[in-house]
Amino acid sequence: MILIKNIRWLTGTHQQGKGPVAGEDMKKLPLLEHAWLLSDGDRIAAFGRMDVMPEIPAGTEVLDASGRIVMPAFCDSHTHLVYAGSREKEYRDKVMGLSYEEIARRGGGILNSARLLHNTSEEELYEQSLVRVEEIMRQGTGAVEIKSGYGLNTEDELKMLRVIRRLKETTPLTIRATFLGAHAFPAEYKKDRDAYVDLVISEMIPRVAGEELADFIDVFCDRGFFTPRQTDRILMAGLKYGLKPKIHANELDFSGGVQVGVKYGALSVDHLEFVGEEEIALLRGSETIPTVLPGASFFLGLNDAPARRMIDAGLPVALASDFNPGSSPTGNMQLMMSLGMIRLRMLPEEVINAATINGACAMGVEEELGSITVGKKANLIITRPVPGYEFLPYAYGSDKVERVILNGVEIR
Ligand code: NIG
Ligand code: FE
Repeated sequence: MILIKNIRWLTGTHQQGKGPVAGEDMKKLPLLEHAWLLSDGDRIAAFGRMDVMPEIPAGTEVLDASGRIVMPAFCDSHTHLVYAGSREKEYRDKVMGLSYEEIARRGGGILNSARLLHNTSEEELYEQSLVRVEEIMRQGTGAVEIKSGYGLNTEDELKMLRVIRRLKETTPLTIRATFLGAHAFPAEYKKDRDAYVDLVISEMIPRVAGEELADFIDVFCDRGFFTPRQTDRILMAGLKYGLKPKIHANELDFSGGVQVGVKYGALSVDHLEFVGEEEIALLRGSETIPTVLPGASFFLGLNDAPARRMIDAGLPVALASDFNPGSSPTGNMQLMMSLGMIRLRMLPEEVINAATINGACAMGVEEELGSITVGKKANLIITRPVPGYEFLPYAYGSDKVERVILNGVEIR
């Protein structure tokens, strides 16, 4: 048991903590001032105000959070953190004027990562990924979705997914795995892209589902990558195996990705740099959660997703890091909250909700995580002393996290 006492602000105390918070409600951050919280085993057992504190059993570990915030650990619902090596040399080319798409056309980008991954053993891939997992846990992430998609052939895709499974088994992070075989077209399919789609459908999806290696399925539905028609075929095939979609949509253009995602009941559609009234109206009539990835648009110098417009239209927006070697080589959710505010004009309450409860919903873990709710997992951040929760996204680039508790155990 751990008792955290004298908490200056206990934030994210969503009563039910079940569905996402949407529209105007995103501006509301439920909190208790001068509070305590008790965890028992891996769960939140109780919390309340300091003036009504119950008898605490002897032997309880006591932490003092004077002047500090206690909040739910981040739920990062979109990453590609299992990858081999890195691509900083390409970023030089980017600085010199090449676009993300041009770099990809020259054999860089995702295909470069696929080559590196092919030449890296499963053990080494696990070791490299573990370093990233440990880094994000210390930065306050308690749950993360991780995609495959740097294999681009059956064996290498399975290799990535096995590494994700091993991370699930060996670390305190809550992890969800997404099969993203349709991330890019391997060079040998340049002239017959549909043949690669056939391979994804007829070979990869049955193997991935057969070995129960993925919770979700993803497609990069965008200009120069997978068309809405190809995406449609892949999502339909995935659904037959019980793989719910979470897709990359509208990063590079009005790609039709939102339409096909909503059609198949996607849990989330992610990126959304190109979103207009039509897409917003479709999302309003759906359960699909629009997810913004400001790290990617910032790093690549793209348009920003219209998060402000989406929230004002009543939608629930989630915020994720997109941690990957090409467009967002960081999984720092504290920084993502800052970028949400700086670049996407989201308010402090909105970025906190988007990075916790809405992120949990966008990766299907909201029954267990994403809010301070009795019975949910004790995945908690204790900040260093701060003047208030607005300070968290405001003080960008500095580490505001002092301690992290995952499954009721202090890991930092
Ligand atoms: O989410 N947009 C597609 N996929 C990744 C980038 C992958 C890469 O460049 O390695 C993304 O930004
Ligand atoms: Fe991504």
